[in-house]
Amino acid sequence: MEFKHKSVLLEETIDGLDVKADGIYVDGTLGGAGHAMEVCKKLSAKGRFIGIDQDQDAIIAASERLAAYKQATIIRSNYCYMVPELAARGIHKVNGILLDLGVSSYQLDNEERGFTYRVDAPLDMRMDQRQTLTASDIVNGYEERELYRIIRDYGEDKFAKNIARHIVAARQTKPITTTGELTEIIRQSIPMKMQVKSGHPAKRTFQAIRIELNRELDVLRDSLDGMIDLLDDGGRLCIITFHSLEDRIVKTIFRKNENPCTCPSDFPVCVCGKKSKGRVITRKPILPGEQEMEENPRSKSAKLRIFERVY
Ligand SMILES: C[S@@+](CC[C@H](N)C(=O)[O-])C[C@H]1O[C@@H](n2cnc3c(N)ncnc32)[C@H](O)[C@@H]1O
Repeated sequence: MEFKHKSVLLEETIDGLDVKADGIYVDGTLGGAGHAMEVCKKLSAKGRFIGIDQDQDAIIAASERLAAYKQATIIRSNYCYMVPELAARGIHKVNGILLDLGVSSYQLDNEERGFTYRVDAPLDMRMDQRQTLTASDIVNGYEERELYRIIRDYGEDKFAKNIARHIVAARQTKPITTTGELTEIIRQSIPMKMQVKSGHPAKRTFQAIRIELNRELDVLRDSLDGMIDLLDDGGRLCIITFHSLEDRIVKTIFRKNENPCTCPSDFPVCVCGKKSKGRVITRKPILPGEQEMEENPRSKSAKLRIFERVY
């Protein structure tokens, strides 16, 4: 199957990275190398590009697409290991980092990966195929209150409680092993008139399970400070999020790095000694324009935030 993915906020992100021809740039979510290719095009022979993805299919597709760029190094890893992966290659400072979070269209469209409710397939949803835990383990193994929490918080589904209850009831008869079975259980948990109104009934629960399985929010939260420390003076960190909780994490950590002072607000001078690491370039996130949203519906929830390191 061909690796198809339309890059979101492409021009805005590349502009935001402010690529210097001799610089070192990292993409922590390489995917189909859409953003990566535009970065590589701007590099001189002295520049370097490091692309990271945990998905073997993305690594194969990106390696082919970037084959002509000798500056490019491709690594199969989780971006949470960016600092040690780069250190192992003698890189301790970079000029720009990019994250385009979530799943690629290829992952969603590839039936075998079990990310989609549109076809019946084994419940998988692993971004990294080396991981042993799958969506099936969550659906069949989590306690009802845990399922409720993730469907409510990560799926923002009003019927989370009911969906969790129906999942637990159904799996008492037999384990839920396919996306089709899960979709049917979700349908039975949501009143018919709501199903017509608010998109596919399984969309939010599938998103929630995917976020939980791949630890998407924890990985993001635990990685951002390290990435900011990796930036050289003037280096930029550009992050595209697709979920309100992801965006909140990025916004909060960017702000904390801009102003880390923990002194009470009535102190005349700072005594905590925590120094700013730079500035948030985007007071408000950059959003896709009308045309992009029309051409690529996946871009509708995208938000780009940019941080610049200042020494
Ligand atoms: C939206 S796609 C990136 C698309 C890419 N920017 C392009 O234009 O082709 C997200 C990619 O990030 C990868 N990914 C998500 N979280 C990751 C993580 N924590 N570590 C490494 N790769 C990750 C996914 O496997 C997927 O291939």
